[in-house]
Amino acid sequence: MEKNQLTRILYGGDYNPEQWPEESWDDDIKIFKDTKINSITINVFSWSLLQPCEEKYDFSKLDKIIEKFSKTGFKIVIATATAAMPAWMFKKYPDVGRVDYQGRRHTFGQRHNFCPSSPNYQRLANQLVDHLAQRYATNQAITVWHINNEYGGYCYCDLCQKEFRKWLQKKYHSVAELNRAWNLTFWGHTIYDWEEVVVPNELGDAFGPENTDTAVSGLSIDYRRFQSDSLLQLFRNEKKIIESYDNHVLITTNFHGTPNPDLDYFKWAKFQDIIAYDSYPTYDTPAYKTAFLYDLMCGLGHGKPFMLMESTPSQVNWQNYSPLKRPGQLQVQELQAIAHGANTVQFFQLKQSIGAQEKFHGAVIAHSEKTDTRVIQEVKRLGETLEQLSPELLQAKKQNKIAIVFDWSNLWAVNYVAGISKDLDYLATVLNYYHALYDLHVAVDVIGTDDDFSQYQFVIAPMLYMVKADLGEKINAFVENGGKLVTSFFSGLVNETDNVYLGGYPGPLKKATGIWVEESDAILPDKSVKIQFTDGQATAGNLLCDLIHLEGASPLAQYTSEFYQGTPAITKNIFGKGIAYYVGSNLTNDGLKHLFKSIFQAANCSLSVTNYQPSPLEIYSRNWNNTEYMFILNLSDSAEKIPADLNLQNYQPYFSSNPNNSNSVEAFGVKILISKN
Ligand code: GLA
Ligand code: ZN
Repeated sequence: MEKNQLTRILYGGDYNPEQWPEESWDDDIKIFKDTKINSITINVFSWSLLQPCEEKYDFSKLDKIIEKFSKTGFKIVIATATAAMPAWMFKKYPDVGRVDYQGRRHTFGQRHNFCPSSPNYQRLANQLVDHLAQRYATNQAITVWHINNEYGGYCYCDLCQKEFRKWLQKKYHSVAELNRAWNLTFWGHTIYDWEEVVVPNELGDAFGPENTDTAVSGLSIDYRRFQSDSLLQLFRNEKKIIESYDNHVLITTNFHGTPNPDLDYFKWAKFQDIIAYDSYPTYDTPAYKTAFLYDLMCGLGHGKPFMLMESTPSQVNWQNYSPLKRPGQLQVQELQAIAHGANTVQFFQLKQSIGAQEKFHGAVIAHSEKTDTRVIQEVKRLGETLEQLSPELLQAKKQNKIAIVFDWSNLWAVNYVAGISKDLDYLATVLNYYHALYDLHVAVDVIGTDDDFSQYQFVIAPMLYMVKADLGEKINAFVENGGKLVTSFFSGLVNETDNVYLGGYPGPLKKATGIWVEESDAILPDKSVKIQFTDGQATAGNLLCDLIHLEGASPLAQYTSEFYQGTPAITKNIFGKGIAYYVGSNLTNDGLKHLFKSIFQAANCSLSVTNYQPSPLEIYSRNWNNTEYMFILNLSDSAEKIPADLNLQNYQPYFSSNPNNSNSVEAFGVKILISKN
C-alpha cells in the first residue's frame, strides 16, 4: 500500500519537552513558530518514563506533549523509545544487555546496547510499541514513526551464539558445506557439529581491536551479516506492530555514520518507508564526503527523497574541536542535503539540555533561553528559505546516467584482509573515485550490487574485492550489452565467503576486462609509482600496483617507473557492445580526473554541467517531470565565481542568498535556478 508522503518540508528535530517544566512549552512553541519550525521529533529516549516497572505504563506526560503539539499545528515524528532500556530491565533480566567483544556482559548504562537475540528485550520492546501504536496511531499530527535510534554495534552473548548457529544452518544446510564455505581445513578448523561454532570474539578466532583481524574471515564476515540481520528483525517486528494499527504513516529508522559500517543498509533499505539519515560532518569534513553520504542515502531508496533526520544547528559535543558554524554555513549545509534529495531538515536538538553528556551539543534554543541569538536568526533564515521552496521539489528525484557501487559485504571483507598492504581501505577508495567525479561536476547515483545496472551508461565499481557468484555474470552482461564499467585493482578476488577465485585475478571480471593480474606490488606509504597515459599525461599511483597481462584489452596508461615500467597500468577492453576499464593502481585525484574526462569525452556523452571543468562550487540538480532545480552551493568560506562554461541559458533564478550577486556566490552562499524543459 502507498503510504502518506510528505507534502511539505519538515523543519524541526529532536525535542525533549519532558526535560522541561510544562509551563515552558509555550515559550518554546513561540520560538519554533517564529523560526518556521513545523515539526518535532519526540519520545526518542523515554522508555524509562513510560514504563517505571514491568507491570506499569505511564503515558500521562506523553499524552500532554502530543496533545499540546498537535493542537498547535506541529507535525510529529514519534519515536518508539526502544533504544535506551530502563535500569529495571537490566536488573530483572540481565540478558537484555550485550556481551562485548572481550566477553564481558554489560550492566545498565549508555544506550543502543540491547542484545538483538534477547527474548526479554524483544518481548518488552514489542509490548511498549504495541501500547504506543494503539494509543497514538490515529493522531493526525503523527507524520512519521521513528523506530528505535541509530541501530548498530555487536553482541557476542550465548543467545546470539545460539541464534547464529540457526542462521548458519539456514544458509549452509550442512556442516560440510559450512566447512567448505569458510575453508575450515585451514589451521585444522574442521567442525563436525553446529554446536562447535563459536562467535568470533577476542576469545575465539577474531583478535586485535574489534572488527580488525580474524583467523577465519568467512566466519567474521558471516557474523556481521548475522548481527545486521538480527537487528533488522527487531526493526521489522516493531514496524509490523505499528502497521497493525496504522498502515498509512511513514515508518523508518535513522541511519547514521560515514556510513555506519555495522549494518548492511542496502538490505535494511528495503524495509524503510523512507530513508532517514543523521548527518554530522565534522568541521574539517570535505563537502564531497557529505555529498557522497547523501547520494548513498538517496541510492538506498532508489533515487527517492530521504529525510535529513538529524543535524546540528551549531556545535556538537563529541568533536575534539567544535568551531561555530560561520554566518550562512548552516543554511548552505542543510541545502546541500536538500539538493541531494532530502525532504526534511531536522536538528538534534531543538533545546539544549542542562545536564549529562550532550549539554554542550548545539541546539536551536540554547542555555541562555534568549530568542535573539545568532543561531536562532540563522535557523529562522533557513526556515524562511525552506518555506519559499515549492512542494513540487519534494517530488523531485534524482536521475543520473552514472552509478558508483558500494557494498557492505565488500567493506567487511576488505577490512579483514591480512597482507599485501595494511592501508587497503574500501570506503576511502570509493571516496577517491567519487571525489574525482564530484570535482568534475559529474552527478552519480550510489547503488548496491543487487541494483539494476542496465539503466546506467557507466558503472564505477572500484576495489570490488568480493564478487558474489551471480555478480560477475551480471557485470559481464552489463558490459556485453553496451554498458561501460570502470573497476580497479583489488577487484574480483574472492567469492561471497571470502575464498579466492582460482585462475588469475580479477576472477569473474577477467572476461569483461580482458586482462589478468599476476601479482600486486604494495607501495610503501609516501612512495608512489610513475604512470603515463597513452596521450602523454603523466600521473602517479600508490597503495598497490597490479602487474597486468593483456588478454584482448589495450593499455590506456603504463607504469614508467619500477621494474614493471612499460607494462600496462590502466586498460580498456571492448567487450560485446560495451567497454570495461581496469585501473591497476590507486591514482591521485588528478590522475582519476584525467582518466574520467578522457573516457567520458570518448563516449561522447554529456555528464558534466561544466564540461568537466572543476570549480570549488557544488552544482547539483533535482528533477521533477520536466522541471529541474539546479543548486549552486558554495560550501567554502570564500567567494567563488560561477564557472564560465556553466550553461545557464535555459535557467531562471529561483532562490538566491544574495540576489545582487549574479556572477559569483559569496562564502557559504547558495543559488537555486529552475529550468522547465
Ligand atoms: C546521534 C543520536 C542523537 C544524539 C546525536 C548527537 O545522532 O541519534 O541522539 O546523541 O547523535 O550528535
Ligand atoms: Zn546477544
